[in-house]
Amino acid sequence: MAGLEHDSDWWKEAVVYQVYPRSFNDTDGDGVGDLQGVIEKLDYLDELGVDVVWLNPVYESPNADNGYDIADYRSIMDEFGTMADWEALLDGLHERGIALIMDLVVNHTSDEHEWFLQSRDPESEYHDWYWWREGVDADEVDWDAEEGPEGEAPPNDWGSFFGGPAWAYDEETEEWYLHLFDRKQPDLNWENTDVREEVFDMMQWWLEKGIDGFRMDVINLISKVEEDAPDDAIPEHYFNGPRIHEYIQEMNEAVLEGEDLLTVGEMIGDEMAMETARQYVGENGDGLSMIFHFEHMLLDRGHNIWEREELDLTEFKAVFDRWQHGLADDGWNSLYLNNHDQPRMVSRFGNDDEYRRESAKLLGTLLHTLQGTPYIYQGEELGMTNYPFESLDDYQDVDTVNPVQNAIDDGRIDSFAAVADDVRQNSRDNARTPMQWSADEHAGFTDGEPWMQVNPNHEHINAEAEREDPDSVFHYYRALIDLRKEHDVVVYGEYDQLTPDHEELWAYTRTHGDQQLFVALNFSDSSTTMDVSESVDLGDGEATLLLGNYGQREESAAADALASVDLRPWEARVYRLEN
Ligand code: GLC
Repeated sequence: MAGLEHDSDWWKEAVVYQVYPRSFNDTDGDGVGDLQGVIEKLDYLDELGVDVVWLNPVYESPNADNGYDIADYRSIMDEFGTMADWEALLDGLHERGIALIMDLVVNHTSDEHEWFLQSRDPESEYHDWYWWREGVDADEVDWDAEEGPEGEAPPNDWGSFFGGPAWAYDEETEEWYLHLFDRKQPDLNWENTDVREEVFDMMQWWLEKGIDGFRMDVINLISKVEEDAPDDAIPEHYFNGPRIHEYIQEMNEAVLEGEDLLTVGEMIGDEMAMETARQYVGENGDGLSMIFHFEHMLLDRGHNIWEREELDLTEFKAVFDRWQHGLADDGWNSLYLNNHDQPRMVSRFGNDDEYRRESAKLLGTLLHTLQGTPYIYQGEELGMTNYPFESLDDYQDVDTVNPVQNAIDDGRIDSFAAVADDVRQNSRDNARTPMQWSADEHAGFTDGEPWMQVNPNHEHINAEAEREDPDSVFHYYRALIDLRKEHDVVVYGEYDQLTPDHEELWAYTRTHGDQQLFVALNFSDSSTTMDVSESVDLGDGEATLLLGNYGQREESAAADALASVDLRPWEARVYRLEN
């Protein structure tokens, strides 16, 4: 299989496109996207101009969590096709110069994985591959058992991210096993060296097939500590746990080092110390190219799926400022505003109604002109929006349905109706509605019945219409991607915030040697006057507008005229300054 040749830092210059295959394109009419469906759209990806595809899990799985519950790491899920299809996909990407990174899900497996089935035998060497524990006396502790034998409680009070306790009782073993996610996703025990070796072998196996890197699912959870942590300090138990760096370094030495791969570790949790981040991605760190942190994703959300907060743009900017500076000289940022776990960015951070097109482009401008590697989630380049969900039955996602249902059952919320609005805005299912290819039935996604509803707005928001319209979000994204290829400053320039306290405006410069960019973004529904004369020396040379989201074409102005400019609602402008 033809591999791609890479320079060592190629991923800094790359733009990544995320394909969630279940919802991308269905070719066999079963209503579920498939690998042939991705192959059919390779020219589309090529036209967009992306350099890398990150493919969400396509491995054999009972789909309790849409492929994030893997039953066999080395085979392809039937619904998606065969290994031969996967190989054809890899070839098709590589022929177009597009790299492929695979999802690595090794914090947990499926409970249907052979390892887990074996592990239920306490005599088996696999028993120690998972977190099997005895229960405790329910009278001695203050957490409740929702299952298990009378008088017995789970080993501790950890909760699952998907609601309910993180321990499930197994009748056969008469023990409890840990699952930080769904009960069908038992956590692997990374303390066990055989587990690590087996995972590294599997990674090597995929690399030998010719892939270009990995996106590592919840990788900062793999090291856990049960002892000596107070019950209310749950984060200390498994977020960036005590042996995490050791494990990733070991993985680096065993598998990744010297291969010029793109590796991106998903790091869930609240604010992360910049030192920890640099430990993962810095020059003398563990060897990852970048991480996905969640700080900007938590600002407008409460702890629960039915809670929302108002987004404050100054806080949002402050998070980006911290990361832009924190990794400026050591490490590298990933840039994303949505993915398969998040609502659609234009609905969340933009205005998906009156200014849908402008705000989708503005958010794209932000992602492509900060320092870091931009990640485009399928449909983002069309300005796809959230779905108008109504009843709880409209949702499919375990992380939506389970927590809401649990909360209704135990009386924490009165009814679904009471939380429907917030759930609608927060749910991961917003990202999972089928890709909108055309105005046809089911948006051209499938000839069958789609596994998930298609957004009715596909009649006007779809790839066909976007490709025909020169002022579309799609063509604007192509221009953004080109900008990155044409100007080193877009990739490498140092970032400086100009408007930290402004509630609607975000202006910044990027500087690389004698190249300088000036970016102005109006995050509001009304016109705003930008005044940056005090925070930046715009010089007295020329300023060239490279890109604007109101259909502007390249035009020149005197740089000092930019000190005070009226920006229309959701207007974005990118200038090159010549001093
Ligand atoms: C990650 C994935 C998400 C999945 C979870 C458990 O957060 O992105 O989709 O549910 O891990 O694997």
